[in-house]
Amino acid sequence: MKESVVHLQGNTSDLIIQTHPVVEILYWGDKISGVEATAIQAVKRAVPNGRLDVDTPVTISPEHGRGVFSSPGMEGNRQGLDWSPVFEFQAIQQDGNHLLITTEDQIAGLKMVCELKLDSQTDVLQVRNTLTNLKSATYQVDRLAVTLPLPERADELMAFHGRWVREFQPHRLKVKHGGYQQENRRGRTSHEYFPGFMQGTTSFSEQQGEVWGFHLAWSGNHRLRSDVKTDGRRFVQAEALYFSGEITLSEGESISTPWVYAAYSAQGLNGMSHAFHQFVRKQIIQFPDHKPRPVHLNTWEGIYFDHDPEYIMQMASRAAELGVERFIIDDGWFKSRNNDLAALGDWYLDTNKYPNGLEPVVAHVRNLGMEFGIWFEPEMINPDSDLFRAHPDWLLALDGYQQPTGRYQYVLDLQKPQVFDYLLERLDTMLGRYDIAYVKWDMNREVVQPGHDGYAALDGQTKALYDLFDELRQRHPKVEFESCASGGGRIDYEILKRTHRFWTSDNNDALERQQIQRGMSYFFPPEVMGSHIGGRHCHCTRRTHSIGFRGLTALFGHMGVELDPVKESAEERAGFTHYIALHKQLRPLLHSGKVVRIDHHDPALQINGVIAQDQSSAVFLFSQLAMPTYTLSGNARLAGLDPTKHYRLTVLDQPASMRTGGVMKKLPLWLDEEMTLSGAWLAKAGIALPVLDPESALLIKLDAM
Ligand code: DGJ
Repeated sequence: MKESVVHLQGNTSDLIIQTHPVVEILYWGDKISGVEATAIQAVKRAVPNGRLDVDTPVTISPEHGRGVFSSPGMEGNRQGLDWSPVFEFQAIQQDGNHLLITTEDQIAGLKMVCELKLDSQTDVLQVRNTLTNLKSATYQVDRLAVTLPLPERADELMAFHGRWVREFQPHRLKVKHGGYQQENRRGRTSHEYFPGFMQGTTSFSEQQGEVWGFHLAWSGNHRLRSDVKTDGRRFVQAEALYFSGEITLSEGESISTPWVYAAYSAQGLNGMSHAFHQFVRKQIIQFPDHKPRPVHLNTWEGIYFDHDPEYIMQMASRAAELGVERFIIDDGWFKSRNNDLAALGDWYLDTNKYPNGLEPVVAHVRNLGMEFGIWFEPEMINPDSDLFRAHPDWLLALDGYQQPTGRYQYVLDLQKPQVFDYLLERLDTMLGRYDIAYVKWDMNREVVQPGHDGYAALDGQTKALYDLFDELRQRHPKVEFESCASGGGRIDYEILKRTHRFWTSDNNDALERQQIQRGMSYFFPPEVMGSHIGGRHCHCTRRTHSIGFRGLTALFGHMGVELDPVKESAEERAGFTHYIALHKQLRPLLHSGKVVRIDHHDPALQINGVIAQDQSSAVFLFSQLAMPTYTLSGNARLAGLDPTKHYRLTVLDQPASMRTGGVMKKLPLWLDEEMTLSGAWLAKAGIALPVLDPESALLIKLDAM
């Protein structure tokens, strides 16, 4: 069969894929103009001595049967047979930049369809593979991955590790031989391994180098790998991780990989983030309306389980005075929930705590002009609950085993229709009965032995969770949901299609948050990143931070406060009011602009900003995370503005200690005198930085003249 290629064209990137005789991505990178039909002849590989006698293509689902000795694109068998399929091209459907490529192995009785879309505006590439069993005997699928090739020069990788209260910690490694693999078997997206990473040219940075970024949009178990073949070729694989026997296909049945979202950038990590953020804004998040993201007050760190409606109403009054726009009562409102030992599953109001019902609280919050939100943890059940006493068999578990509890709770089996219906009824009733605009949906444990009818069922559990969200959202389209899993344990694009915000971390310490939020910012735009001003004394780390550092750290996300405003001093409350007002003033820019992280020679100083899409204005935050490494902090080179325009520099917020602490005898002039600078100067020469105390921050704004 004659060779054939398809050229998908983005705005800044291109993807060229050969469809037959084998389906192989030949090029994915910077835009190429003028591609002649014969150009692919130029990249035909040599066949060296000492190997197989033919070229061995890394197809969209690499096959051992074609002589590829690295990780195949799928693994499975039919009672030991049909274990090494080779997929031959069958058909292609093209609609602009959207391709459906069908391949088949008629001997093994398997069909593989690869679906690819390159978004021509944002340059985000979307890929998934679907495998179908064509024979009458059942086929067991052990692995099914999306495979994307990378050029040999992409020899450095940046991924994330983490844990509860320490999510999104980046780490980097050289990938010269062998490769990298991360696996998550915790049953939720996980704090430990965010399902995404970036690979790029040597020493790629925020602003420089070529970078290819990948995200597997999946809230269950996953495996990501980056392989270096012994011939130097590289590829990335992303897949849902299945337990043994978890996926079996009867004749005609199919299984699809989750969507993989990928982006190429010739402008370092910032270019990649820009692509992902714009894509998320356009295609992933579905806000019920276009209003600004309301400022929250969440009661958790203020009162924990101690719910007294009269007191909560006082909190709400104080919250409204601060400028809060949405008031959320967290854990503790339902029957017998006095600590974390009991009651999960019993989603009925605790009438001992709320003898007059929830209505007066909701009405009070609404009368103050705020939206009302409430906490649920639907997937969970405590052994000490009425639900468990009535239905001990509703667990996601394996009969005959005693699985460990996590936070004293078990997971419900959402694939049992009775469980699904019970949760749907409870949430539906609550949302129908009260004027609830917002649900904080929590998930506080990892999943052990997820068994349904004896079989491994994490894949099914994850899909049933999506179904539950989908059904609720259809019934209550105006309600917004937050995805929380002990903080940042369930942050991914697939859950984001059904939710509107993430609780980024249970760690509200501003210093820790600086790092966590930066990590999250690679893939997620600020408006979905829940960032709250916590109390002066952080519950999690016992560190103490000034209101300035806490306020500025929370400013750049979807802002809120997480404390008891009744108990806070007048001075602290003035601080919250100030930063909430500042956030509201900047919110249109922060929640629509281009996020930039600035390369700086001293890692003790972190610089990030948001630039308006039309380059008319920008805000930059200088956060001193540790003692400056040198006696001076050098210049901040603020790239990304229009080089031909002039910008007025305004200092919006500065640490009190900068002028009183005796760190500097003389401040950089722009801190006290009005200054106008060109976009070119700001990018190339920059502005001299003051010397800041550790754990303090400074905010500036630039406005085009
Ligand atoms: C974990 C969440 O991350 C917290 O914000 C809070 O909602 C608690 N659960 C409540 O149990």
